[in-house]
Amino acid sequence: ASDPPIVFHWLPIIGSAIWYGNDPINFFQSCQEKYGNVFTFILLGRKVTVALSSKGSNFVLGGKSTAFNAEEAYKHLTTPVFGKDVVYDVPNEVFMQQKKFVKFGLSTENLRAYVGMVEDEVEEFLKTDVRFRTYQQNDINEWGSFDAIAAMAEITILTASRTLQGQEVRENIDKSFSQLYTDLDGGFTPLNFLFANLPLASYRKRDRAQKKMSDFYVDIITKRKQNPDGDHQHDMIASLLDQKYRNGDRLRDHEIAHIMIALLMAGQHTSSATLAWTMLHLAARPDIGDALYAEQVARFGNPDGSLRPMSYEDLRHLPLLDSCVRETLRIHPPIHSIMRQVREDVVVPATLAAPSKDGVYVVPKDTYVLASPLISQVDPRIWKDSEKWEPARWNDAEGVAAQALKSYVDESGEKIDYGFGAVSKGTDSPYQPFGAGKHRCIGEQFAYLQIGTIIATLIRRVELQLPNPVPEHNYHTLILMPKDPKSVHYRRRKF
Ligand code: HEM
Repeated sequence: ASDPPIVFHWLPIIGSAIWYGNDPINFFQSCQEKYGNVFTFILLGRKVTVALSSKGSNFVLGGKSTAFNAEEAYKHLTTPVFGKDVVYDVPNEVFMQQKKFVKFGLSTENLRAYVGMVEDEVEEFLKTDVRFRTYQQNDINEWGSFDAIAAMAEITILTASRTLQGQEVRENIDKSFSQLYTDLDGGFTPLNFLFANLPLASYRKRDRAQKKMSDFYVDIITKRKQNPDGDHQHDMIASLLDQKYRNGDRLRDHEIAHIMIALLMAGQHTSSATLAWTMLHLAARPDIGDALYAEQVARFGNPDGSLRPMSYEDLRHLPLLDSCVRETLRIHPPIHSIMRQVREDVVVPATLAAPSKDGVYVVPKDTYVLASPLISQVDPRIWKDSEKWEPARWNDAEGVAAQALKSYVDESGEKIDYGFGAVSKGTDSPYQPFGAGKHRCIGEQFAYLQIGTIIATLIRRVELQLPNPVPEHNYHTLILMPKDPKSVHYRRRKF
């Protein structure tokens, strides 16, 4: 047995940190060509073994959780931001119960109640936000513009707080909450991933904001307990107040507070980045913007030309809207690196990386392992015109990925047959924007609801155009964001 090949680097300790940090996709693809699906790189003194392709994802995400540990990979980033006693600050078995509590709060009944709330928030935003002045002037010939990231970030937090986070958060969003959020978010960067604590202002602000944010939620919980008749039945705090651990204990107030912070952080950048990318692509392809509008008219059109409001059920019957989001998540999945730490020596399956002359590869205990579903999501052997944003690939007559090959021969000569698997949720699927396995995202339905409702509401009101090409990826944020310029032009629709 031997260690996986080490990526060549000039600088000890620093290793490949700069290449990986500046352009992880190019780094992974270049290394894949040179070393195959499995290789190790040095990231500031740490060893990170990357496992690419759908088999690589299966290796990392489908491995047993006693061997592949998420807490050790993430807690130095997340605990200072979320707070103690939740998520990666507790044993996995406890977090899995907390995850179940959250899932419970994302019930279909609650989701159903959210669609109208999201629609209301977006309409209110269009009527009041300064970026939509041109829209407010009611002139259908005049073009205005907005910054895709900034506008979508705001709509995301407004809609998430109106629905999941609850009335008290929504009422404070323009006041104290917004600054606390900004400071806390300043602690959620690649630097924080590399160094849990540094003597920097951003770290001090993070810690102060965490404390205040935690107190803010605890205060909400205390008031709700004093006044149990308030009307909060569909939000997450209400749901968490009802839950019990297996040993019969209820969640403590600070645990609820910290779960709420975790959900805020987990959903904010992922959803707003997806929205920003989708708006940019729609603006670059007015034909698809028009088709989306036509889809709305076909389903919601009233005889007088107006459109009726949407419901949760409606969202399942808008295949083009669905495929626009799906396609954005294929080429711009917000999370490009999924990490674990291995707690024991693990053997790399020979089908994933052909054995070296010394035998199979073994990833030694304590090494970090990394899966990047993005690489198979843009693999030209799997997807036709893989770099192109083409929502139509997701809805052919059979409802299967039309332009996704149904099978391909991988580098070891094995025929991989995906069939419907191209959209499967398995740990070996080549499409995993929400991850897979034990740590898979539980926010997917909420995210689709939120993103879908926001896009549909905007597309009903405005046409879009893009003055520049769709921006490239900015890899300097934890979440894949568009670089500048990200200005989108809009004009009010007739109705
Ligand atoms: C986990 C992506 C929205 C809550 C994950 C993972 C990915 C992901 C890739 C797996 C991480 C890993 O295995 O290490 C996304 C994307 C989103 C989104 C692309 C939106 C487009 C949300 C929202 C929420 C949420 C809205 C909450 C309401 C979570 C939670 C986990 C998770 C609780 C579980 C982490 C674990 O078990 O370790 N998400 N997410 N996500 N996500 Fe999301």
